[in-house]
Amino acid sequence: MDLAYPVERSKTTQTRLVLPPDTNHLQTIFGGKVLSYIDEIAALTAMKHCNHAVVTASIDSVDFLSSATVGDALYLEAFVASTGRTSMEIYVKVHSNNLLTGEEKLTTESFLTMVAVDEYGKPVPVPKIIPSSEEEKRLFETAAARKENRKNRGLIGRDKSKK
Ligand SMILES: CC(C)(COP(=O)(O)OP(=O)(O)OC[C@H]1O[C@@H](n2cnc3c(N)ncnc32)[C@H](O)[C@@H]1OP(=O)(O)O)[C@@H](O)C(=O)NCCC(=O)NCCS
Repeated sequence: MDLAYPVERSKTTQTRLVLPPDTNHLQTIFGGKVLSYIDEIAALTAMKHCNHAVVTASIDSVDFLSSATVGDALYLEAFVASTGRTSMEIYVKVHSNNLLTGEEKLTTESFLTMVAVDEYGKPVPVPKIIPSSEEEKRLFETAAARKENRKNRGLIGRDKSKK
């Protein structure tokens, strides 16, 4: 597909509040809860980019860098880092903010692969991206190395008979 859109067009942000049911006995948020927020914002971003339904093909990496505590705000930001023929690599970062002190920390970084699909679940081509900020360009330029890592993990190009 020759169509290309600026990364900014589908960039998505969300704010969440860390609530008691989402935390462990240390009052810090469960990783799985953060992951569900990440999966949702990645899907929204991908759908905004390609204007199709999408499925999560893989959560390629997730790094929990610091914890967030009950009462903190979570600021999620997601954008398309690179595209394939039918897949979109989405980068998500999550900052926590202690609303009482104003302290803000990067808590989580993640890369996910979302695939655009038609009404039968069959992959369909997606537009390319036009990165503009330094961060967008850096992630775009390093996408091939991350793709190679995914291949080495055996997640791409695996023997379909073993599905
Ligand atoms: C993702 C899915 C649509 C791929 O279907 P498929 O028949 O393997 O399609 P293809 O082999 O043509 O691959 C389509 C694209 O997905 C990518 N892909 C497939 N599996 C992948 C994986 N595990 N990780 C990363 N990318 C993957 C391919 O590289 C290809 O990208 P490209 O077109 O940009 O080159 C299919 O495996 C699926 O529906 N999976 C379940 C998704 C789901 O339900 N997710 C919710 C959580 S369970």
